[in-house]
Amino acid sequence: MDQKMIMLVAVVMACLAPAVRGTFHLSFSNNTEVNITRSGCGSTKLCVETPTNCDPASSPCLFSSFISGAAMAPNGSDLAVELRGDSAGFIALGLTVNASEGTTMVFVCAQNNGTFFFRTRARNNSNSDGALTPTERLVNEIRGAVNGSVIKCEFTIPSLNATARTTMDTSFTVLLGSGTTTGTELGAFSVNLDAGLLNLADPASNAMTTAAPQNVTTAQNMTTSAASAPTSGAIVLLSVATWAAVMRT
Ligand SMILES: *[C@@H]1O[C@H](CO)[C@@H](O)[C@H](O)[C@H]1NC(C)=O
Ligand SMILES: *[C@@H]1O[C@H](CO)[C@@H](O)[C@H](O)[C@H]1NC(C)=O
Ligand SMILES: *[C@@H]1O[C@H](CO)[C@@H](O)[C@H](O)[C@H]1NC(C)=O
Ligand SMILES: *[C@@H]1O[C@H](CO)[C@@H](O)[C@H](O)[C@H]1NC(C)=O
Ligand SMILES: *[C@@H]1O[C@H](CO)[C@@H](O)[C@H](O)[C@H]1NC(C)=O
Ligand SMILES: *[C@@H]1O[C@H](CO)[C@@H](O)[C@H](O)[C@H]1NC(C)=O
Ligand SMILES: *[C@@H]1O[C@H](CO)[C@@H](O)[C@H](O)[C@H]1NC(C)=O
Ligand SMILES: *[C@@H]1O[C@H](CO)[C@@H](O)[C@H](O)[C@H]1NC(C)=O
Ligand SMILES: *[C@@H]1O[C@H](CO)[C@@H](O)[C@H](O)[C@H]1NC(C)=O
Repeated sequence: MDQKMIMLVAVVMACLAPAVRGTFHLSFSNNTEVNITRSGCGSTKLCVETPTNCDPASSPCLFSSFISGAAMAPNGSDLAVELRGDSAGFIALGLTVNASEGTTMVFVCAQNNGTFFFRTRARNNSNSDGALTPTERLVNEIRGAVNGSVIKCEFTIPSLNATARTTMDTSFTVLLGSGTTTGTELGAFSVNLDAGLLNLADPASNAMTTAAPQNVTTAQNMTTSAASAPTSGAIVLLSVATWAAVMRT
């Protein structure tokens, strides 16, 4: 009985949550201006993109940049992110410690027919289908803009620390990708760029690959999108379960 009530409340709340706002673990900045350029790439911010060296002011260009704040033990450091890409659905940044095990934190900037929305998700690195499951990672200062198929967003991930060991670690494998949306439901995460293991605190961390594009890890043709349809139902259920779990605590 109680459980049913909780589920019902969770469903109602999930439905009431406006598309533009996301959920409670997300906070938005009311500064709506989103201006993403290559200015500072390699010097003040670390940039990754596909195609190589593309300009986020033009299409196609899937681009992301990172500025890592000061390390504050034991919490880690804040990471300021810019993300820009072309999609009628979503674009996403994936950060993982080891792409062949564990999970990838996925930060999604999406559009629902021209309206921006933001989500956090997890991908199980052991599964090849790219399915995304809801997670409640804190994200601050979210700003987003959609113009046709161009999605731009900026956000801050607080307290990022790649290690469970004693020294600070800001090295993550960085993935950029995209996928489809149905309303605000997300399809699978399709990886367009595996930028490899990068130190997010070092703007020149990938200087060798950008200077000489001889050995760039090319966009991988992962066969992910085909598997997306059957997962959306599961995502809805998981979403509700998450709400229910939160309501209970
Ligand atoms: C939001 O906007 C109001 C008025 O426009 C401003 O006073 C306030 O500082 C803004 N808050 C943030 C977090 O930008
Ligand atoms: C966007 O940023 C660039 C570089 O920081 C600046 O030159 C440009 O004027 C900005 N554009 C807008 C519309 O703010
Ligand atoms: C670490 O995080 C905790 C919980 O969010 C917070 O209370 C504390 O102030 C943070 N410490 C630093 C140094 O940022
Ligand atoms: C990163 O996490 C480890 C293990 O929890 C901790 O010892 C270390 O102090 C953290 N570093 C920072 C800068 O928060
Ligand atoms: C990543 O995970 C794989 C499989 O568990 C393991 O063999 C490999 O050593 C790990 N790599 C790193 C750098 O930890
Ligand atoms: C998308 O938006 C356009 C214009 O705002 C509208 O005409 C169209 O019906 C919308 N499509 C859907 C599926 O909501
Ligand atoms: C990831 O998927 C594998 C295989 O499907 C499963 O054994 C494992 O428990 C999953 N890990 C997580 C964290 O869900
Ligand atoms: C949207 O994109 C079109 C063409 O791509 C451009 O002309 C227009 O200025 C853009 N609108 C905004 C608000 O940036
Ligand atoms: C990638 O695409 C090429 C040509 O389209 C194909 O030959 C290859 O098998 C694909 N690789 C994977 C892993 O799907």
